[in-house]
Order: sequence, then structure tokens, then C-alpha cells
Amino acid sequence: MNRESLIIFDTTLRDGEQSAGAGLTVDEKLLIARQLESLGVDVIEAGFAVSSQGDFNAVSQIAEIIKNCKVASLARVIEGDIDKAAQALEKASSPRIHTFVSSSAIHMEHQMRKDPEEIIEMAVKAVAKAKHYVDDVEFSPMDATRTDIDFLVTLLEATIEAGATTINIPDTVGYAVSKEFGDSIKILRERIRNIDNVVVSVHCHNDLGLAVSNSLAAVENGARQIEGCINGLGERAGNAALEEVIMGLEVRKDHFNVKTKVNTSEIGPTSRLVSNIFGFPMQANKAIVGQNAFRHSSGIHQDAFLKDKSTFEIMEPETVGWRGEALVLGKLSGRAGLKSRLNDLGYDFDNDQLNTLFIKFKDLADSKKEITDVDLEALIFEQSRYKSQKSYLALSSIEVLCGNQQKPKAKIEIINIDNKKIFSESEGTGPVDAVCKAIDKIIDIEVKLTEFSVNSVTEGIDALGEVSIRIENLNGITFTGTGSDPDIVVASAKAYLNAINRSIQMTKEGSESPGSGAGR
Ligand code: KIV
Ligand code: ZN
Repeated sequence: MNRESLIIFDTTLRDGEQSAGAGLTVDEKLLIARQLESLGVDVIEAGFAVSSQGDFNAVSQIAEIIKNCKVASLARVIEGDIDKAAQALEKASSPRIHTFVSSSAIHMEHQMRKDPEEIIEMAVKAVAKAKHYVDDVEFSPMDATRTDIDFLVTLLEATIEAGATTINIPDTVGYAVSKEFGDSIKILRERIRNIDNVVVSVHCHNDLGLAVSNSLAAVENGARQIEGCINGLGERAGNAALEEVIMGLEVRKDHFNVKTKVNTSEIGPTSRLVSNIFGFPMQANKAIVGQNAFRHSSGIHQDAFLKDKSTFEIMEPETVGWRGEALVLGKLSGRAGLKSRLNDLGYDFDNDQLNTLFIKFKDLADSKKEITDVDLEALIFEQSRYKSQKSYLALSSIEVLCGNQQKPKAKIEIINIDNKKIFSESEGTGPVDAVCKAIDKIIDIEVKLTEFSVNSVTEGIDALGEVSIRIENLNGITFTGTGSDPDIVVASAKAYLNAINRSIQMTKEGSESPGSGAGR
């Protein structure tokens, strides 16, 4: 049967970055963009060019390096926004300007303070201006699901006439329920003139936990572009989790009858990279990408599964790039063994990269008997993160004394960007507190630690510990940091330094303005 194509529009780097507590450097965004290209999404919304210098640089650098996806920048229906978006997209081989304006009565009155006629005029002007720069223009009426349907029809007809090639229906506040949302897509498709000349898209937020379900209901009613974020990141409760949308469409292709270009085996690596760089650990029971997503625990399930996998498995874990925890390498494995396993996992490192990774691998193998694929991936992420982020401060050595008979004390040696060694020590209420206080004495910015969590990368007492940290600076801006090590105090020090390095780099890049991001 001929399946229609469906466009996957990824907004992890724009709406996803609007997740409270998220903030990425330009290089981290480039790393994610490259992975999204390997995943095979059709459109990468790389940022909101006008919102900050950092966003502008991210959009323009992503536009320059990504060749197999369209690259989009968000823009309000304001001339200056459209100009900036176009400027940032200059080097893109397939640029898209995505312009939006609020359309619901609540937003028009309280947020925009404009009447409906003015909104239509602004939208039409913006689309026409964007069209002057690029062929591919997307228009979104923000808060569409709480917008009067007659007004929505008039507004969308006018923007199609002005040249929009995609019209996107955002459920901005996650208010819609699935049947109603699907019906409204159908009604819009029936009522809007020339709708068949454009792509109908949806952008669902997850405030009621319905973002994926609503997106799929829209597909049933003719939507042919789905917007969402990897791991369901995004403003408030997030956006539709793209990995769930993609696998829903794939596993139930009998029902939806559409196809995407996504290489599903890249879903796992993409999810883990995004989780790692954003510093948002994945919940174990998360669909498709959670640690437990393919684990069978009940005896009855295990028994049936061993007889025939299809009894309790609707997709093979390998199809979504799930990494098993089988022993792959150990202390005695050599460089060739490591290289061959990395090749199996799809990584092709040059000799220098392999050598650096091999040293880390040997260090880990000294303290952890069995090195699994997930451990290897954690090492690779850590290496790419350090490569993609300037080390203003790098951990050289650390020594901690603690126990129930003494006040925790940390001694720490840091190497700064000029290669100078700096020593510091401090007591604290616990070992991690002592480490952070010792680091605080070295840095000349004031930050406070607001969140701290430890997860084990794999199972077992010797597992790699992955620490996620959030710090807040005096302007109330939050930065995340992650670090992994078999010793969780060392992992904490790495995570704390990672957050501080990110705050320094983002401030230099001009990415940390509190007003950046759509709707922020
Ligand atoms: O949620 C929303 O309405 C948005 C728009 C900018 C598309 O993110
Ligand atoms: Zn949104």
C-alpha cells in the first residue's frame, strides 16, 4: 500500500531549550543538530534568531553545517525578527522561516493588546516579508486551540494567500483533548480555502499528558507535519515526545498509513545524547527510551516472552537503538577490541579520538569489571561534551575525607583555561557540599546549587554514577551540568564544573538573557 509521507519537525533546540532550567551552548546545539540529522528528521528548528546573540549564532552555524534537513528559525510577526531569522539562515541549503502570532481572544487582549484585524494585518505582512527572503514559510497562530474557529479560518486563509507553505496549529497550552483536536483539524481542512496547497502541521504541548495522542489524532485527520521534541522536552510539561510519535506511526502503520524518513535505530542514541546534554535524566518507565521500556519483570510475562517475543513485545528493542547491558568489554580488552565495538555501535573515531577514549576506558575498567555499551556511550558523551564545551575550569584531582566521625572535607585541584593549577579546600555538611564549596572559592561568580540528582548508568554496585546538577546565578538564571564517574563525589565535582563552564560560556556567547525564547 502506498503510504503518504509525514514531515517530522524537531524543535528540541528551540521549544525544548525553553524547558525550565535548560540552556545550551552553541557547540552543544551543533552536536545535537548533527545527531538529529543522523536521525533523519525533516526540519530542525534551530532557535529563535532574534532572541539572543547565542541563538542567532546557533541558527546560523547549524544552517551552515546541516545539509540533509531543512533548518528553521522562529520569528514573531515583527519585521526585525524576520530580518534576523533570514540573516541567520543565509547559509542554509533549505531555509525555513517560522513566524507566529497569538490568535486567541485571551492572548490578543491580555498579551498582545491588539484587535483581531491588527493581528491579521501583522501576520500577513510578516509572511509576505518572510516570503521575500525564503520560499518555505511556516505560520503558527499561537494558542490556536482556544481561538474562535471562524477567526482562525480567516487568519489562516489570509496567511496562505500571503505565501505561507505550512500552517501549523499549536495547542500552545496543552488544552485540547484528542477527539476534539482531530475534529478541529478536519474542520479546518474542510473550511480553509486552498488548504490543499499547503502542509497542515500540529504542535502539541503536554499539560494534560495528551500531546502525543493529540498529534496522532491530527494525523488521522490529515495533518502531515508533526512538531515535537526529543524526550518530550519543551515549555512547562513539554511538547509531544517525537520518539513516541515516530514509533506510534511506525508500529501502527496499518492504522495511520503514513511514513517518515526517520532512521529509528538512531532514536536511542539521540534520546541519550539529548538527556545527557540537557541534564534531564530519563524516567525509567518512559515509553520507547526509558531503561525499563523493554524489560519484562513478571514471571508470567518472562515465561511467555521466552516462548515467543511477540507475546509481550510490540517492537524489537534494536529498532529504536536500545542498548542492552550485555558484557561487551573488560579490563583485558585492547584498543582493537574497543575500536571494533565502537564501529558496531556506529562510531567511527580517528586515532586521536580513539586514544583519548581508550585511556578513559582503561580507567573505568580498573574500577568496573564489566563495561557495557551503555557505559561506552556515557564515556563518548562525556568526551564529546568536553570537546564541545570550553573548559574554563577542569578537574585535575580531588580528595575527600568523610564519614560519621568527622566533618567532610574536600581538597581539590583545578586547571584553568590558561593551564594554571589552582588549589582549594573546604569543609561542608556532606562530601558533595564540601567539593562545591571548595570550587566556589576558586570561581569569581556567585552561584547556588538548586538541584542535585544521581542516577546509575547501568546496574550493579560498581556502576557509573551520572550526576545532574542545576545552579542558579544572581540574575536567577539556571544552568545545568552533568558528569559521570564510578565515584559519585568525583561525578558531582565534574557536574558542578560542567554547569559553571556552561554558565561562563553562555554568558560570553550572549545566550543567557532571561527574556530569550518564545513566550519566555
Ligand atoms: O507552543 C507554541 O504555540 C509555540 C509556537 C511558537 C509555535 O511554540
Ligand atoms: Zn510550543
